[in-house]
Amino acid sequence: MALSDIPQTNQQLDALAKTLFEQQFHSQADFIAHAPGRVNLIGDHTDYNHGFVLPAAITFGTTIAASARQDSTIRVYAHDCDQQLVEFNLEQLIFDSQLMWSNYVKGTLQALLKKYPDINGANLVVTGNVPQGAGLSSSASFEIAIIKVFCQLYQLPLTGVEAALMGQQAENDFVGCNCGIMDQLISAMGKKDHAMLLDCQDLSFKDVLIPAGLTLCIINSNVKRGLVDSEYNLRREQCEAVAHYFNVSSLREVSLSQLASAKANISPMLYKRAHHVLSENARVHSAFKALNENNIKLISQVMKESHNSLRDDFDVTTKALDGLVSMVDSVLGDRGGVRMTGGGFGGCVIAIVPDGLVTQVLDVVNKQYEREFALSASIYLCSASQGAFRSLP
Ligand code: GLA
Repeated sequence: MALSDIPQTNQQLDALAKTLFEQQFHSQADFIAHAPGRVNLIGDHTDYNHGFVLPAAITFGTTIAASARQDSTIRVYAHDCDQQLVEFNLEQLIFDSQLMWSNYVKGTLQALLKKYPDINGANLVVTGNVPQGAGLSSSASFEIAIIKVFCQLYQLPLTGVEAALMGQQAENDFVGCNCGIMDQLISAMGKKDHAMLLDCQDLSFKDVLIPAGLTLCIINSNVKRGLVDSEYNLRREQCEAVAHYFNVSSLREVSLSQLASAKANISPMLYKRAHHVLSENARVHSAFKALNENNIKLISQVMKESHNSLRDDFDVTTKALDGLVSMVDSVLGDRGGVRMTGGGFGGCVIAIVPDGLVTQVLDVVNKQYEREFALSASIYLCSASQGAFRSLP
């Protein structure tokens, strides 16, 4: 699909899903569900350490049109994955290494079936506008949209937090990515115009308004990333090794001063990994406070520190991400914040930009990025949107 053909709004996605459903299944869909992708403002690689994160759901997501079936067959048409149509039985959920996207459906249904073993099959049409492989959680939005549409088809009384845990289970137990809970939880429970301070230990959360006059500017380095086969799982193991050293179940139970006093006894690399996680948790709280008080200087400072920590201590940035951050920073100074976002190893930068500076940020990226990195960046301007399970307003 040409970029200009990609639906921009949820209404356009709904209309496309409806039409495609009629074409594929020669009947009308019973329900349409939508779940957003996410951008993390600050707090990366903290979720699986039971720490804190501050993501927002975005105005890009996955839409599914569906109708129930009397048997246990799932027929699913993925418009944006080469228009492939896959059919399988709920009693036989087998990993397919050729059709990776289908594993998200199977894994999610496997998790759903554990709680609701009696559900029947469905005809599904999937489409969306979350850039894939950019680190904006197209997969979490896919999982949450599947769960949402099954809740509608079979009147399942699931909460958003339960749905998020099922999405995470799909990734951990079926797809093979040991991700944390952030992406699924914000996709399910995000609130329009707000970011979410999420405690990944007890899954409690607080919304915080993103002050008016600020644009979320996501810049995709277009360096493709792969979570499953990347260093992501290794970072998690390294963090767990430090928790193990302290004889606790997660880094949440370790303080920065405890870590400092153990410095001589753990390897410099493991020390840095844990140092990132513990210092990042503190920065998440500062950023929450800064948003609450509309203190842009503080946002700017903690986002800068976060990026440097992900670069120097956690070692997950790339030259292109570092380059983008410094280009945007040259425009913003302390009038806005910029950092890499998500798992790293490519993907996107998030900038919180006063509306009046957006054009300048776009200009600097358009002028310098391609020249320095021989790649063109994609820029998505968005605002915080509502999660699939979050009731309005
Ligand atoms: C990916 C994972 C999340 C989280 C981030 C890094 O997006 O899916 O659980 O760990 O990386 O913060």
